[in-house]
Amino acid sequence: DWNMDSFVEDMIQSIREKVGDGKVLCALSGGVDSSVAAVMLAKAVGKQLTCVFVDHGLLRKNEGDEVEAVFGPDGPYDLNFIRVNVQDRFYEKLAGVEEPEQKRKIIGEEFIRVFEEEAKKIGTVDFLVQGTIYPDVVESGVGKSATIKSHHNVGGLPDYVDFKEIIEPLRDLFKDEVRQAGRELGIPEYLVMRQPFPGPGLGIRIIGEVTAEKVKIVQEADAIYREEIAKAGVDKGLGQYFAALTNMRSVGVMGDGRTYDYAIALRAVNTSDFMTADAAQLPWEVLAKVTTRIVNEVDHVNRVMYDCTGKPPATIEFE
Ligand code: XMP
Repeated sequence: DWNMDSFVEDMIQSIREKVGDGKVLCALSGGVDSSVAAVMLAKAVGKQLTCVFVDHGLLRKNEGDEVEAVFGPDGPYDLNFIRVNVQDRFYEKLAGVEEPEQKRKIIGEEFIRVFEEEAKKIGTVDFLVQGTIYPDVVESGVGKSATIKSHHNVGGLPDYVDFKEIIEPLRDLFKDEVRQAGRELGIPEYLVMRQPFPGPGLGIRIIGEVTAEKVKIVQEADAIYREEIAKAGVDKGLGQYFAALTNMRSVGVMGDGRTYDYAIALRAVNTSDFMTADAAQLPWEVLAKVTTRIVNEVDHVNRVMYDCTGKPPATIEFE
């Protein structure tokens, strides 16, 4: 365990020298890598940095506000923060679209378009920040899953924006080193420990057509699931866990009445590299508690299922 403290200090110093009085642009996703990269740049060059955060309406519950609380004007950092609220624009684009690859394509393209529009408003920038980490460099972004699903990542922007040079402050770090750097930089623990979240967000955790109503359902269910997993203290060993909204509705009973509502699928996997994964054996009491809470607290859900499938043959995400 080498000295992260001095790595962070040295990196900030060298970024400062490199950037000079240049303008820096960063696409902030709210994920660990882009957050740590953004804070490093903010500490190095302050207001010369502009972070663009695209809220596409497919984020987890409260995530947009959490990101804004850290990076926005009321947060601890001195930078230019732009939150682009384009939720409705994305829902409109996704209306009626059911095919997974088409959904991914629409979300990815629309994301680039929004980012491009914002970048144009800013004008010429000198540097573009990327949260690339060492494993990304090694795999050069071509994971096995990339051939199965078209990956959307906020890392994939350089072609679309005018800039002179890329800055990748995390290029030599493994994930736990990125988290450690984040702690050194004073980033809140809930951001530092955030689990991987796909670029297309909840768009690929809602099977079939995405609507604002379905986003709300999966957000609420997922928030309950995460809360109970944390409360039970079983989150430590898990690679990834989340709720998804199946496109299935089924008959249920509530009081004296018949219901015809959605089924939520809970997923939790153990994995070392996300290329293969095993379904985690969560304690039954935790699953039972989560189920009770979801059917009681989330409208339009009358059934909860646990996904016992490994990868392969399933993937971690549902689309
Ligand atoms: P799958 O579903 O292919 O997911 O087993 C493997 C890992 O990749 C994440 N994932 C993505 N990450 N953009 C991303 O940045 C994407 O389009 C994307 N699709 C899947 C997924 O969350 C899991 O960690």
